Amino acid sequence: MLIAGNWKMHKTRAELEAFYRRFEPCMAELAGIAVAVCPPFPLLREAAGHAPLVYAQNVHWAEEGPFTGEVSARMILDAGATGAIVGHAERRQWFGDTDETVARRARHALACGLRVIACVGESEEERELGRTEEVLRRQVSVLEPHEGLVVAYEPVWAIGTGRTATPDVAQEAHALIKSLLPVPVLYGGSVRPDNAEALLRQPDVDGALVGGASLDPDSFADICRIAARVARG
Ligand code: PGA
Repeated sequence: MLIAGNWKMHKTRAELEAFYRRFEPCMAELAGIAVAVCPPFPLLREAAGHAPLVYAQNVHWAEEGPFTGEVSARMILDAGATGAIVGHAERRQWFGDTDETVARRARHALACGLRVIACVGESEEERELGRTEEVLRRQVSVLEPHEGLVVAYEPVWAIGTGRTATPDVAQEAHALIKSLLPVPVLYGGSVRPDNAEALLRQPDVDGALVGGASLDPDSFADICRIAARVARG
């Protein structure tokens, strides 16, 4: 069970320190689950000083070169981080990521020794048109199984909207993804302390990628405690 907090474009160094002052005492209660934080690039080193699992929010596919604004796998490892998210819906929507670039980012990062959380998920329109399965099949088809790879199923209509997928909807998508690619699958999209348990109890839900609720140390700790309880059985 992995619970990852995606901080997106939030927090300064002082805010990270305040988060960990509050979150650190609860970490002892979280035996049996893995907890990762995914801060913005400038905070990777500070975050790595507080907890072992730190993921960047993106990673480029080249070793180095003329790619202004991008960050390489080697730089992320050098900052003390352990992994990277690729293909988040916000990267696909606002920054031109495609299945092809997501695959290249994932392949290179894994080859460099980073762990990877690769995000997939259908839009509201795609779900309404009955195209969810086709979209997930296409997005997953470019990924290859790897021991460092985890997929996050994040229906776009559930990200930051407060409209979580029902446990049944999540379970159905996770089962499909796992039939295509034998890797753990996290659920993401408006996960909160009040809906985490029902989602995490689904047989094919192996954890959560938490956005908004991971910014507050108390709500993130609550979700992590719920996951630890579910993991204990
Ligand atoms: P949310 O974000 O929990 O705020 O919906 C999830 C994500 O985008 O990873």
